[in-house]
Amino acid sequence: MNPKYAPLFAPYTLNNGVEVHNRLVVAPMTHYASHDDGSISEEERRFLTDRFDGFGMFIAAATLVSPEGKAFIGQPEAISEKDLPSLREVASIAKRQGAKAILQIHHGGNLSIGELLHGKDIVAPSADEKSGARALTGQEITDLIAAFANAAHLAIQAGFDGVEIHGANNYLIQQFFSGQSNRRTDEWGGSLEKRLRFPLAIVDAVVKMKQQYASSDFIVGYRFSPEEPGERGLTMSDTFALIDALVDKPLQYLHVSLWDFYKKARRGADTSLTRMQLLHQRIGGKLPLIGVGNLFTADQILEASLTGWAEFIALGKTVMMNPDLVRLIKAGEEDKIVTAIDPDNADHYGIPDNLWAQNMQRLAYLPPVKDDKNWQSPDI
Ligand SMILES: Cc1cc2nc3c(=O)[nH]c(=O)nc-3n(C[C@H](O)[C@H](O)[C@H](O)COP(=O)(O)O)c2cc1C
Repeated sequence: MNPKYAPLFAPYTLNNGVEVHNRLVVAPMTHYASHDDGSISEEERRFLTDRFDGFGMFIAAATLVSPEGKAFIGQPEAISEKDLPSLREVASIAKRQGAKAILQIHHGGNLSIGELLHGKDIVAPSADEKSGARALTGQEITDLIAAFANAAHLAIQAGFDGVEIHGANNYLIQQFFSGQSNRRTDEWGGSLEKRLRFPLAIVDAVVKMKQQYASSDFIVGYRFSPEEPGERGLTMSDTFALIDALVDKPLQYLHVSLWDFYKKARRGADTSLTRMQLLHQRIGGKLPLIGVGNLFTADQILEASLTGWAEFIALGKTVMMNPDLVRLIKAGEEDKIVTAIDPDNADHYGIPDNLWAQNMQRLAYLPPVKDDKNWQSPDI
């Protein structure tokens, strides 16, 4: 290995004493490949096996905590004991590759897909015409907090090293935090403090499960999106309030969701600075931050890490395109890392069919396809 990459391979000890053996994290990637009942499929096994060799941490795809929150076909589930065999298998595939196995726990809220809900209503903090969602009742909100905690309990039983609470990408938890989607007037909406109540209640419930059923080694992380575009959408200043609350909780890491590691703040903070720098400053070393976003080559990954704005670097698309990414860096073959998908080499990538089909349709969040000059990743 070229010694300049050594910083990527420095171990990091989390605040619960758990050592993660390096700074490279597999970003959570929904693969659209589980069976309809959420159980693991052969395609999913193939996508997960061997791809993560050498990573410090693997964050599994958004995994459903309650049936009406299903936002993807082929989504894995952590709803009841019937999910344990598949969850066990995913955890063990990741651990065999030497990575800490983290389960991302998720509910789609108003982004859930009606046809996948078997007659259940789409639900969200507030009703909205676009999605057809109805507002959750107070009892349902309490039940959903319990569903996230239950998913954490299943993750513990399945042998995961931790869970990541999916508070990002406009799904249910973010919908509660954002004044744009949360127009409630009860204790779950209104002021910033009340909009924070649902995300923080989930953190507390998950931590309680950990205290009851796992050892202190179990890792709990939280993922968030720092800003929303709409007039009433989240701003950096809202996100600072979220961070201030999260750093007081017994969490092990924070994980930002970004499409561009270097994207500058839109509003609510110094817009001449990157979101990464501002977030890292605000966290003030109280928790490690995982940064992410369009880092493809070994040098891009290294450069991002050397900014000092993130203790860990998560990688999504480059892991889809390079099933042996860390091996290439370690073997001094980083020039073989590819930065576009070659449709003629489909078998090489081991990408499940549904995801491959989306990639061939050139959806913006997916890797560039070779010779596609118009590729542009989402600008959120
Ligand atoms: C195929 C695919 C599926 C994704 N699924 C999830 C997901 O389940 N949960 C999540 O938080 N982010 C998800 N993301 C976002 C990634 O975790 C990551 O933040 C994003 O791809 C930017 O990183 P990258 O430029 O290294 O790909 C997904 C991204 C891709 C490409």
